[in-house]
Amino acid sequence: MNTITPNGYKVTGIRGQILTFKADPFICEPSQCYEYIEDGLIIVRDGKIVDVGPYTSIRADYYMLEDKDIDVYDGADSLIMPGFVDCHMHYVQLPMVGSYGDALLDWLNRYTFPAECMFVNDEFAEEVAQIAMKQMLEHGTTTANIFATTYPGSVDAIFSESERYNTRMIAGKVLQDCNVPEALADKSAEESVAMSEQLLKKWHNRGRQLYAVIPRFAPTSTPEQLKLAGELYQRYIDHGVYAHTHLCENVNEIAWVSELYPESKSYLDVYDKYGLVDHHSVFAHCAIMGEDDWQRLHQAGSSVAHSPSSNLFLGSGQFKYWEAKDKKRPVFTGIATDIGAGTNYSIIRQLGDAYKVAMINTHPIDALKSFYLATRGGAEVLHLADKIGSIAPGYEADIAVLDFKATEYQGWRLAFSDDIIEKLFVIMTLGLDNTNRATYVAGHKVYDRYRDKQFVYPTWS
Ligand code: GUN
Ligand code: ZN
Repeated sequence: MNTITPNGYKVTGIRGQILTFKADPFICEPSQCYEYIEDGLIIVRDGKIVDVGPYTSIRADYYMLEDKDIDVYDGADSLIMPGFVDCHMHYVQLPMVGSYGDALLDWLNRYTFPAECMFVNDEFAEEVAQIAMKQMLEHGTTTANIFATTYPGSVDAIFSESERYNTRMIAGKVLQDCNVPEALADKSAEESVAMSEQLLKKWHNRGRQLYAVIPRFAPTSTPEQLKLAGELYQRYIDHGVYAHTHLCENVNEIAWVSELYPESKSYLDVYDKYGLVDHHSVFAHCAIMGEDDWQRLHQAGSSVAHSPSSNLFLGSGQFKYWEAKDKKRPVFTGIATDIGAGTNYSIIRQLGDAYKVAMINTHPIDALKSFYLATRGGAEVLHLADKIGSIAPGYEADIAVLDFKATEYQGWRLAFSDDIIEKLFVIMTLGLDNTNRATYVAGHKVYDRYRDKQFVYPTWS
């Protein structure tokens, strides 16, 4: 084995306690859905995982690999997992996270739209994109499904920064041609969708970047814009382009949609009429849904993003995971921060909030199911479960390393937990902001909490 490959990548290893998912524990027998290796070794080549297994059984196969090229994490301190997937967030809302006092529609007008107007300035967009990428990587998020805003510079900024880290990100221009401030509004439906198509051609499948067609939500697009957005999506769906929007988040929002579209059977039906409900569609929230809507999402192969801290913060609806994941007609479901309505960037902290929302409805959700949603489940939402979200041969080497000793108290508390699943439940419940210690993107350690320079762009020489 040559440890430098023709592409200039080194073969490297990551050793430690490993947990990954193979199947959906909402559907299959949970004990069969995950793989846990107490002392494992992951072998990475050209950005991909080529081997993984118990250290003692595979180290000898890679005898050319020098010890110095293996990062070692002590199992008492750390857990190696797939990088987290944030199924819905607005990087342009970083400047207004934690804005006081309003529910969704007033909050949009008072805080969100003014913040997004600032992105008319490309330099500001670049600055925020850099901070957003750092926040995600610091928290172990390696893939996110991201709203930019109206201005094309806001799309270029987030993709460019993602490209520098070589992360697999999905993003797109937000289409909004009514009911937003003049400065944020698209000038015409045709022009806005043409601009979206140009950005799609520029970014979709450029390296690891993927494009989404993003009408913000039904009230901020004219019927003409929704129609053209649906047509654009349908033209490119077979190339892996996504549709991404909001659905059924809050009672007043739902009432507004039914005033705007009195002829539609439901909010979902508005999107359906324009071809936006299909197998690459991701709907954020879905907190107040009827059975017909769930049936339709299941039938279409669409996905939903559960954003618990956002729903709690804005006093929106309560997501019912047991409805979404009903075995009779399961809907792909993942976890999302929904920054800036979400109150933090950590997917693990979202899991703690998701547990509490579920408990209000007496449906506890265990750690196994929770961490599945945060990793492989998120990858399934994005129809990328053959590429990301698992630690197995052939997968892109996007990895998070959790820190059991993030604080003295957490380390002490975990000593009272008997097994890894119990430990994970404590970690999500304590909800510390610094649970992640290192993040690998396509095999490169781009973030290390204990390194002098915490964030680095990958280099291949
Ligand atoms: N619905 C339409 N736009 C938004 C947004 O920016 N955030 C949230 N949470 N919901 C929305
Ligand atoms: Zn949102």
